[in-house]
Amino acid sequence: MRLTSVVTFALATLVGVSTAASCKTDNDCAGITCCNLSTSQCVNDPKGTICDIPPKTTKKSTTTKKTTTTKKATTTKKTTTTTKKTTTTTKKTTTTTTTATPTGTYGPLHPSPMNPKPTCRSYTENFINPVIIEADNWKPTSTSVDMVNISGSKSAYKVSDGILTLRMLPPTFNSAGKQTSEGVAATIDMAFEMQYGNIEIRVKANPVGGAVSTFNTMSASGDEIDIEISPQFFQSYPPTYFESNYFSKGRMYGPNNKDHEYYPNLGFNTSADFHVYRVEWYPDHLTWIVDGKTVRTLNKADTYSGTEYLYPMEVSICIEVSRLEIGIWDAGYQNYGWGGGPINWHNYKELDAQFDYIKVECNPEYNHVIGPRTSTSKAVAAAAKNTDDEPNVGEKLPNGVVIGHHASPGSAKH
Ligand SMILES: *[C@@H]1O[C@H](CO)[C@@H](O)[C@H](O)[C@H]1NC(C)=O
Ligand SMILES: *[C@@H]1O[C@H](CO)[C@@H](O)[C@H](O)[C@H]1NC(C)=O
Ligand SMILES: *[C@@H]1O[C@H](CO)[C@@H](O)[C@H](O)[C@H]1NC(C)=O
Repeated sequence: MRLTSVVTFALATLVGVSTAASCKTDNDCAGITCCNLSTSQCVNDPKGTICDIPPKTTKKSTTTKKTTTTKKATTTKKTTTTTKKTTTTTKKTTTTTTTATPTGTYGPLHPSPMNPKPTCRSYTENFINPVIIEADNWKPTSTSVDMVNISGSKSAYKVSDGILTLRMLPPTFNSAGKQTSEGVAATIDMAFEMQYGNIEIRVKANPVGGAVSTFNTMSASGDEIDIEISPQFFQSYPPTYFESNYFSKGRMYGPNNKDHEYYPNLGFNTSADFHVYRVEWYPDHLTWIVDGKTVRTLNKADTYSGTEYLYPMEVSICIEVSRLEIGIWDAGYQNYGWGGGPINWHNYKELDAQFDYIKVECNPEYNHVIGPRTSTSKAVAAAAKNTDDEPNVGEKLPNGVVIGHHASPGSAKH
């Protein structure tokens, strides 16, 4: 459901046309049905004209985010990381007592759901027969489309034998052969949104330092949760680390200027084989899990600055949905050294990351949960395409990314 106007809603309520399956919001409707506010009735919505169109928010750009995140020197990082390790161990023990799905009254650690809830599809994308549409004819409906290509380059991805390969293509060079832009990132968004839930990928990361393979959430105002995998964080790191990170309204530092990043050592070479990376995002805590082992837990209560929680979804400021994005991007260009860059692009025509599956489990308390796409027909996807003549290329998404121009998850890093 998308509220066209409060007036429509008020009218519908007054007229009271509904009888059976009456509703006030999507939350009142079962399965993939949504609330038609004109009639206050739950309806099937195969074309996604009511259920699943993400609100077109024209929010601020990511400019502020971009300036906030210069990376620190290697030595500082290492010390910070050691400290964090101890902290995390302590947290692990307390996590068992943290209720996974909080019950009781709503409050800062257990905010009330949005109304309407975002429509979120719980399913596993195994890349057998995905419907991925191009951003230039993008009108996503989560009932007929799986993913949306918002990459900056041609041939940004390919799907074959149940594997999605994302391809980052070379940047521009000046006449002296010096790199003058980032490598062209590949980004694909899931065609629905979520607030709280679990996300998981099975991925083989790219082995080249500076190339970062990612899965992240991203909201309009810069709430972000990251899985970022590079073979070589900070030059000296071996290819056994990954970066767990989060942003709160574009901010990467918490109370006492504490860095949100934490780099668990996984003990295996992240680009040698496929591994499973998972984030469990609850209203009151976040957990990163790799190959079934918890490697980091963050409690929302510990992010309190004295005035607000520096946590992805500080509802007292703003409550909003997140998009889910996978990608590969060139971290070495502007963050010299971070992620193992810069990439010596003269040696590569493309840099790939391979994704075996993406799994999404929407938290039913906070999302209007729908199941897997029911139609396997590409014709259904075609019907979901833009009916207006305006191309989406050049359009700014709620996350600040401009379609077809520059789209890299973790763009806050630049
Ligand atoms: C919602 O209700 C309006 C008014 O009756 C109707 O025109 C429209 O087709 C309905 N939408 C769906 C998807 O049923
Ligand atoms: C993905 O999007 C980019 C930018 O719009 C486009 O150039 C490319 O052809 C698209 N498709 C593939 C398969 O990369
Ligand atoms: C990690 O795996 C990649 C891909 O197989 C390989 O190129 C690289 O040499 C490996 N690194 C180490 C330190 O074993």
